[in-house]
Amino acid sequence: MKRLTALLLACLVAAAAFAGCSKSAKKNDTSAASSAASATADEASKPASTSDEAMADGIDYMVLVNKTNALPQDWEEKLTTVHMTNSVGVDVEVEQKAYAAYLELKADLEKENIYVDLDSARRSVAEQQRIMTEFIEKYGAEYAAKTVAQPGFSEHHTGLALDLYLIVDGQDVTENEDMVQYTDIWAKIHEKLADYGFILRYLEGSEHITGYGYEPWHIRYIDDPATAKQITDEGVTFEEYLGKASSNEVQIDLGTSEKFSQDELEAAAVTIKCQFAAWEGCELKSLRYAGDEAVTEEKLTQLKAKSPSLDASKVVCFLMDFSTSETNAETALEPNRDYTDYQWWLSKSKDGWQIADQGYGA
Ligand code: DAL
Ligand code: ZN
Repeated sequence: MKRLTALLLACLVAAAAFAGCSKSAKKNDTSAASSAASATADEASKPASTSDEAMADGIDYMVLVNKTNALPQDWEEKLTTVHMTNSVGVDVEVEQKAYAAYLELKADLEKENIYVDLDSARRSVAEQQRIMTEFIEKYGAEYAAKTVAQPGFSEHHTGLALDLYLIVDGQDVTENEDMVQYTDIWAKIHEKLADYGFILRYLEGSEHITGYGYEPWHIRYIDDPATAKQITDEGVTFEEYLGKASSNEVQIDLGTSEKFSQDELEAAAVTIKCQFAAWEGCELKSLRYAGDEAVTEEKLTQLKAKSPSLDASKVVCFLMDFSTSETNAETALEPNRDYTDYQWWLSKSKDGWQIADQGYGA
């Protein structure tokens, strides 16, 4: 990693650390850490610099890393990080300016009695692989695909993605399924993100673009509060803002079912959308529940032949309309074509929905 050369920047990071956090934040560069001790509280409250200034310092704070865009090759050598220890004693590594901005956000939230800490920020490819393997073993491939990025394709590699956790009534709330319950707290946190150069990265309803389910805790530092505010106000994903995905309205129709609740059908639709997002150059038009009657005995026999453990009472079919681009990279799909009524067959188990079949082979 690059040695920290900008004394002022070091001071900014350290001053923010000392002013806003009682945890044992420590630099990964000892020369910078000693100079940091002379920082003043005034420096800590300076706004983050613009992206142009940040580029001059090395990394591109607007970098796009997602299901189809890997971490840039030279990223590691340009990246400068700091380490901190969170309230549960875990070491967390964060890009230096992102950490300074996070400490300002945290201090601001504390004025409203909202307490957050860092669960995870920069991850190596090996660490991402460990998490991916753990999730596949515990929850199955589809759940892992909508929750954890493939190693090399995680925004966490950049050091600019921060996973928050909540401290509510003095208790650490670190599990995803517990954290999502605190919708009011997250709403207040999200309101303040842009002021410190952060955006919420994985929006509810945009899974076909981001490739991941809603994550209220995953925030992304982009360094420029004005741009962060624009993205937030427009309610768009980072991909849409960068012109890498269409903002066209997508029709989602969960229909009605005697067998499944709307929440179950919604979860099935999210599973499909997260898979679809990895199809580079494809644009989703609509996704609709095909109805309980779409599941015929003939189709169930076919699905059982492929997956003998499949629960035949928990199978759904969704129909998708989408288009491919001229430069479509999906080898199984033709470029520049409109696909209609493309079928997605899913089955439900204790781990949630799995994709049992897809295409026109029904
Ligand atoms: N949870 C996000 C998608 C990641 O693993 O990078
Ligand atoms: Zn995350």
